[in-house]
Amino acid sequence: MEVGGELTVQTANVTLGSPRRAEEPPAGDYVMVCVGDTGSGMTEDVLAKVFEPFFTTKEVGKGSGLGLSQVFGLAKQSGGGVRIDTEIDKGSTVRIYLPRAGGVADTPAKEQRKFDRPQVSRATILVVDDDAAVREITTGLLRDLGYDVIEAGSGGAALDALDNNAEVDLVLLDFAMPGMNGGEVARELKARRPDLPILFATGYADAGGLVDATEDQIIQKPFEEDELASKLLATLSHGPARIESEPFTLSP
Ligand SMILES: Nc1ncnc2c1ncn2[C@@H]1O[C@H](COP(=O)(O)OP(=O)(O)OP(=O)(O)O)[C@@H](O)[C@H]1O
Ligand SMILES: [Mg+2]
Repeated sequence: MEVGGELTVQTANVTLGSPRRAEEPPAGDYVMVCVGDTGSGMTEDVLAKVFEPFFTTKEVGKGSGLGLSQVFGLAKQSGGGVRIDTEIDKGSTVRIYLPRAGGVADTPAKEQRKFDRPQVSRATILVVDDDAAVREITTGLLRDLGYDVIEAGSGGAALDALDNNAEVDLVLLDFAMPGMNGGEVARELKARRPDLPILFATGYADAGGLVDATEDQIIQKPFEEDELASKLLATLSHGPARIESEPFTLSP
């Protein structure tokens, strides 16, 4: 378009029938990338040679003659092809066809969500639950969310873990455990690290009445990944849970 004009770039999913020219792809489903101009157009003679390497009508030093041959090579190597429609003084349209990928996209929805979800920072979470199966599921969810996880099967193990790992950023603490319950463990944790955020996991609907913590510092079991993710973020940003001085009592 030496004197100016309009360039149009368009993409579409297309289904093609049998090819009319050798450079067009076989019949099938393709993604089309289309570039159209309102330039000089091409004669039949030129059109017959445009895909030949080094064919150019430009002055010496102005064109390599490799543009369209590279376009054609790339399309063919990908299992697709090219088609050109052209008319003198009207313009040219080059359509590149690339095979359409079947099935679902590479990126599972879950992976996608990981990126959509704002995560404050990389954090290490200490999971305290006496039930090994629950602990395993929870740990899997947390790792999916991008957190590092330390596991403890009891309050005592949790306190040991904290004593040995200054790295803990949050404790996900089960409420109903044999031996020390979640409330007792929380007080011990708080004695060691007053600033440590704690998210209480409980199957008891009335746990909210037992803990002086905001609603988003308690998560009801069984929980789902999305709820866990948002509660963790809320707890991490709220900072330490406030623990009552009175001993906790559990009334199922
Ligand atoms: N959009 C177009 N309109 C009119 N003629 C074209 C168009 N595209 C290509 N041609 C013709 O085809 C020839 C070969 O094109 P190709 O892109 O392969 O090389 P080139 O454009 O000459 O060189 P380069 O790509 O290095 O600039 C061009 O010299 C020109 O004559
Ligand atoms: Mg070119």
